[in-house]
Amino acid sequence: MKEATGKLAVMSVGLGAVTTTFITGTLMYRKGLTVPGGSVIEMAKIRVGSGEAKQYKKIKDIVPVAPMQSLEFAAWDIFEEDAYQAALHADVLKQRDIDPVREELEAIKPLTAAFDKNFVTRLQGDNVKQGTRWELVEQLRADIRNFKAERGCDRAVVIWAASTEKYIPYNEAVHKNLADLEAAMKANDYENISPSMCYAYAAIAEGAPFVMGAPNLCIDIPAMWDFAKQQNVPIAGKDFKTGQTLMKTVLSPMLRTRCLGLSGWFSTNILGNRDGVVLDNPDNFETKRRSKMSAVENILDSDIYPDLYSDIYHKVRINYYPPRGDEKESWDNIDIFGWMGYPMTIKVNFLCRDSILAAPLALDLVLFSDLALRAGYYGIQEFLSFYSKAPMHKDCEAPVHDLFKQFAMLKNAIRVMGGYEADQELD
Ligand SMILES: NC(=O)c1ccc[n+]([C@@H]2O[C@H](COP(=O)([O-])OP(=O)(O)OC[C@H]3O[C@@H](n4cnc5c(N)ncnc54)[C@H](O)[C@@H]3O)[C@@H](O)[C@H]2O)c1
Repeated sequence: MKEATGKLAVMSVGLGAVTTTFITGTLMYRKGLTVPGGSVIEMAKIRVGSGEAKQYKKIKDIVPVAPMQSLEFAAWDIFEEDAYQAALHADVLKQRDIDPVREELEAIKPLTAAFDKNFVTRLQGDNVKQGTRWELVEQLRADIRNFKAERGCDRAVVIWAASTEKYIPYNEAVHKNLADLEAAMKANDYENISPSMCYAYAAIAEGAPFVMGAPNLCIDIPAMWDFAKQQNVPIAGKDFKTGQTLMKTVLSPMLRTRCLGLSGWFSTNILGNRDGVVLDNPDNFETKRRSKMSAVENILDSDIYPDLYSDIYHKVRINYYPPRGDEKESWDNIDIFGWMGYPMTIKVNFLCRDSILAAPLALDLVLFSDLALRAGYYGIQEFLSFYSKAPMHKDCEAPVHDLFKQFAMLKNAIRVMGGYEADQELD
C-alpha cells in the first residue's frame, strides 16, 4: 500500500446538485464547520482482529486515506456558472452553509464539457467542447493533465455526477473489445459512444480511477473493464444508492430472512430538480428504471425460494414535480404474504433530500477509489457495491445488492488493505 503523499485532484463530471453539495460540505468539514453525516469513510468504526485482539478503529486508522486537506476540486459542466453560483442554483443548501466557503467555491470554474444533446435532450448549455469522440477524449485527457500540473497533484480521481444519459443498449460489435471501442471513437460513432464513455476512457488513460454515479452504460462494458486492467486503474459504479433503492436493499433481506413472501412492490417518486427534468424524458428514464429494478429480484432469489418470490409484480415510476426541488419524496407500497398465505402491506414514505444522501457517497467513493489505486487494485471494485444501485460485477459473478452483505465486503476489503484478516462468512 502506497502512502497518500501529495495532493489528490478530485475531478467531477457535472457541477450540479450532487457535486456542489459534496464540494461545499467537504470544504466546510475541513474547516471544522460541519459534520460529515452519512460518510462511512469519515465516521464509521470497523472491527479488526478477533477474540482478545478485537478492536474498533476508524477507517483512516486502519488504512492511509487521503487527508481532506490534500483534495483539490475541479468540475466539467455545460453551464458556465462557478461552483458558488451553481450551489445557489441547485438550492439544496442554505446560503449560510455555503457562504463560509464562498471564495473557494467561486474559484471552481467549470471546464468545458464533452456533451451531446442527443444523450440529454432536456438540457442546453454553451460551455461545451467541439470535436469527434476521439478528439473529445484527447481534450479531456489534456484537462486532467493540466489540472494536476496546475495544482501540483500526484493523483486524480474522476467521478461522474452529471445527468443520466439516454438508454443505449450494449452492442457487442463496439463494446466488447477494446480495439473495437477505440476504433468506434476514432470513427466518431456517436450512437454507440456516449460522452460519458469519453470521460471514462480519458480518466483511465491518465491513470485516474473512474466512478460512475449515474446508471449510464459507460464503464459497464468488457472493453472498459479490459482497459482498466491494462492501465492498472480501479473503476466503480454504477448509480449512487441513495433513497428508495437503499430502503429496498434493507427491506428485501428482512423479508427473505423471515421467509415472508412478496407479491408486489410499487415504487413511485416525485422530484423537481434538474435531475428530475432530465429523467422526465422517457429515453433517460429507461436508463434509470433498469438500474432501480434489479435489487429486489436479486435479493429475493426465486431460484432458491420459488414459493415465496417467483411471481412478483415490480413497478418503478419517477415523476417530475417542480415545486419539490431537490427534496424528493418516494412512496413504496409493498404487498407481502405470510402464514397460510394471508396478505399484508408495508407502506414506506421517505421524505429525503436527494443530494444530502448522495454527497457523502461521492466523498467515500472518491477516497476509496484513490485508496484502491494505491493498494494496486485495478478493474471493477466489487467492494464498492455498497454505494451502487446497480453494482458492477465480473461476468462470472452475480452482483451483490443486499446492503448488509455489501457492508461486509467493504469492511473485509478495508481489513485486508490494512493487513488484517478478512471475516469468512458473508451469507
Ligand atoms: N441525488 C441523488 O440522490 C442521486 C442518486 C443516484 C444517482 N444520481 C445521479 O447523479 C447525477 C447527478 O445528479 P444531480 O442531482 O447533481 O443532477 P443535476 O442535474 O443537478 O447535475 C448534473 C449536472 O451535469 C451537467 N451535465 C450533463 N451532461 C454533462 C456532460 N456530458 N458533461 C458535463 N456536465 C454535464 C448538467 O449541466 C448538470 O449541471 C444524475 O445522473 C443522477 O441521476 C443522483
